[in-house]
Amino acid sequence: MNESLRVRARAARIGIKSGALRGSALLEVLLSVPFIERDAWVDEVFGLPELPVDVPGLPRESVPYLPCGVDEILAMVRDVPLRAEDELVDLGSGLGRVLMLAHVISGSACKGFEIQEPLVLDARARSEDLCLSNISFVLADATEADLDGTVFFLYAPFSGEMLRRAIKRIQTVAARHPIVVCTVGLELNDVTWLVARRSNTVTLTVYDSR
Ligand SMILES: C[S@@+](CC[C@H](N)C(=O)[O-])C[C@H]1O[C@@H](n2cnc3c(N)ncnc32)[C@H](O)[C@@H]1O
Repeated sequence: MNESLRVRARAARIGIKSGALRGSALLEVLLSVPFIERDAWVDEVFGLPELPVDVPGLPRESVPYLPCGVDEILAMVRDVPLRAEDELVDLGSGLGRVLMLAHVISGSACKGFEIQEPLVLDARARSEDLCLSNISFVLADATEADLDGTVFFLYAPFSGEMLRRAIKRIQTVAARHPIVVCTVGLELNDVTWLVARRSNTVTLTVYDSR
């Protein structure tokens, strides 16, 4: 990243930390960053490190950490559309890129469940550094956790039996109120209580509960 982008990232970080830079103003700044630099620029703003090493002994069906692309996160915020009244839940929240970005753009409450403790501690530290409130990171197996929320995000965090368990947990929320489920790199076409929306975004699928 060149020095001018770094300077803009530092300025954006100060604006976010003070609470002055949010929503459409922040989105405008972000969209002015060249597409190819956006992921690195967002990580610079949030103080997110390069890819950390995964903890040894991750369960067989758990997918290792890889952050979701900024463009998919922006598509999710736009297509849902995510609002300040929503609670966004990221199953397998990693270092928190999805939740921090979605939170500062939409104002929604955010909760992440992550099985790797170092990632949870790092995500908490980064969001506290930025004085973000209404965002939390829980150390837990997301497929065993009690869930609530209005929008659920899954960037292919697990497969097989783990995925089936997580979908059942999300279904218990949908039985209480309508929800939206967003997936990246994962199709849920066999889940009969979810209806996929038509979309122009290749990698993101948005589903409504029936
Ligand atoms: C592909 S990464 C996505 C990270 C994050 N959502 C993002 O986009 O930046 C998948 C994450 O799911 C986590 N994970 C895998 N199995 C899990 C489980 N059963 N419960 C909670 N987190 C899990 C992994 O540790 C990893 O951080």
